[in-house]
Amino acid sequence: MTDQPQPERRNFYGRIHGKTLRQSQKAYLAEDLEAYRLVGITREENAARAPVDFSVGLGERPLWLEVGFGGGEHMVHMAAEYPDVGIIGCEPFVNGIAMLLGKIRAAGVTNLRLHPGDVRDLFDVSDDGVFAKAFLNYPDPWPKSRHHRRRFVTAGYLAELNRVLQQGAEFRVATDIPDYVRQTLEEVPKAGFELVHQGGEAWPDWISTRYEQKALREGRVPHYLTFRRL
Ligand SMILES: C[S@@+](CC[C@H](N)C(=O)[O-])C[C@H]1O[C@@H](n2cnc3c(N)ncnc32)[C@H](O)[C@@H]1O
Repeated sequence: MTDQPQPERRNFYGRIHGKTLRQSQKAYLAEDLEAYRLVGITREENAARAPVDFSVGLGERPLWLEVGFGGGEHMVHMAAEYPDVGIIGCEPFVNGIAMLLGKIRAAGVTNLRLHPGDVRDLFDVSDDGVFAKAFLNYPDPWPKSRHHRRRFVTAGYLAELNRVLQQGAEFRVATDIPDYVRQTLEEVPKAGFELVHQGGEAWPDWISTRYEQKALREGRVPHYLTFRRL
């Protein structure tokens, strides 16, 4: 027996690895990941779970959070559109991380950092009110009812999101799944957010992501929701 606190075991149900990486993608991971990776998020690097200063290397600027950036289209687009903001992204899918790094090289943006893993590990080491905006683009839909509790728009994730957002911060959700819209409209207000807008028209600074393109090809209809943290 040990008196040491045991690390919380978390289930991550998504994919970590996909198709074999191309040589160029392996090179992005080998050469660029360390420059953009946030240090101190993992339990190995920060067993005490001390708060991490995400602005290291970014200077004094508002920080925005993107949960599950996928291939990084939106994250890189936002970094280019808003050079005075620091964009922090989380994504455990290695192929997506490699794609993001390739896009960072191509766009030449530097005002972004990433955690190559679960957003809950980032929440653990985030100060209250550290983020001024958050994006959840095409979250995993978990269509079976018994899997709905795995969705991001559930009490545990949303309480932490509320905590790490500043008062008045915007929280944007894009999804093509009607039942995800339903659950978002039910759960997000319960977690201390007010609905500002919802509908089929994207935000003026939106860029369509890989998953949105897939949804459109397959005939599904995008839905965009904007909340404000109370
Ligand atoms: C359906 S994909 C959408 C990707 C991208 N946002 C887009 O619109 O193309 C959902 C992504 O969320 C990521 N994801 C799921 N759970 C996550 C978690 N707990 N923390 C961070 N990312 C997560 C998955 O790995 C996946 O890449």
